Amino acid sequence: MPARLSSPVPSALAAALPSGAGLSSSPRYLQVAGALQAAIERGEYPAGSALPAERELAARLGVSRVTVRQATLKLAERGLVVRRHGSGTFVAASGPERIQHPLSRLTSFTEDMHSRGLSAGGQVLSFGAGHPNPQEAMQLGLSPGQRVYRVRRLRTAGGEALAVEESILSAERLGILSAADVQDVSLYALMQQRGAAPVRALRQLRAVNADQELAELLGVPLGAALLSTERVAWDAAGRAVELARASYRGDRYDFVMELREAGT
Ligand code: GLP
Repeated sequence: MPARLSSPVPSALAAALPSGAGLSSSPRYLQVAGALQAAIERGEYPAGSALPAERELAARLGVSRVTVRQATLKLAERGLVVRRHGSGTFVAASGPERIQHPLSRLTSFTEDMHSRGLSAGGQVLSFGAGHPNPQEAMQLGLSPGQRVYRVRRLRTAGGEALAVEESILSAERLGILSAADVQDVSLYALMQQRGAAPVRALRQLRAVNADQELAELLGVPLGAALLSTERVAWDAAGRAVELARASYRGDRYDFVMELREAGT
């Protein structure tokens, strides 16, 4: 018999699913997807192995086959499993595909995600106008009395939370801005429309652990490894147009840099 028919459904998987409808506010198929994902991440279904047949999972978990199918489609979307027509659903070889982010190119989050065929989201978490603190004023080349906007956004790719980005923008250089202007749009595209497109940036990278708030926003465990970056970007006229602080999920992002021999 194919391995998938004899793969037991781990009891922890069944236990992870609340029984009966309405116990959780999230749709049933997302609960099933979450429980399966957790089982894969715990190594109960190793890379390359087949998941139990839809029929078997449905029976064991007390849900319909349609629900199991929707759940496995969701996992396929997340890059965790591969569905092979006629032969079943298999755990992807290396878990979800990591985002390879070249550090030498100045691209926006939206461009990065579109180049991977993913939709980009930018949910505004907070928005405000105020003044830069002395350090920010120095980094942006502003005087402390000049106004800045602070925009904090949850960045998603294909609906999955990947990063929290905070941008500090010179109000004078960008013109009037509202939260609605930056909700789910490309900030860089907007800056370009307003004649303040970033063309050069300097970025610092360091490792941090997710605090409670970031863990909840990014859907990672408390203390999970994150890559924290700070970046100042300048426009073609050499004016600093954005100071950005961001936290990227360490389990989903690889920052890649090209190194050349000195003098080449
Ligand atoms: C990258 C940069 C951020 C910048 C963002 C703009 O992620 N690290 O500093 O704010 O791109 O992305 P978008 O144009 O999609 O809003």
